[in-house]
Amino acid sequence: MAKLKIKYYPDPVLQKKSEPLTDFGSAMQKFFDDMIETMYVEDGVGLAAPQVGVSKRILIACPTVKEGEEYVIVNPEISEERGREMGSEGCLSLPGISGQVPRAKKIRLQFQDREGKPHNVEIKDFFARIIQHEVDHLNGILLIDRVDFDKRQQLLADYRRL
Ligand code: NI
Repeated sequence: MAKLKIKYYPDPVLQKKSEPLTDFGSAMQKFFDDMIETMYVEDGVGLAAPQVGVSKRILIACPTVKEGEEYVIVNPEISEERGREMGSEGCLSLPGISGQVPRAKKIRLQFQDREGKPHNVEIKDFFARIIQHEVDHLNGILLIDRVDFDKRQQLLADYRRL
């Protein structure tokens, strides 16, 4: 495994829509493992492929923060959202800042696992928040795009000062 280099805002790869993944071959299996290692080395609970410069619909999530309990989620689609709550979020691509972001409490998620096998699950709370944050990355959306204008300006000013 190898640690991958994180892309930081305002890198353009973070602001474009990623392409669906169709190749689940051995090079891609290695890339999944490299993403997992990178997430743990960086102390994240989630990582999306654009954050390491790859514009494909892949994300890693580990809501328990325990190595070995991570999920590889490919081509995710959120089909139902229920409830709404604010919660604090940070992002490895925006180091040093965090903001209160509204997210659905429960979501229904369709995705493929690392072998390409389809799944359809309901997830909630912290896990659902991670997934919504990472799916946003696949659509070129960052947490600063999910807060109001004044808060966005304040977060970006803080970010530039760091
Ligand atoms: Ni992020």
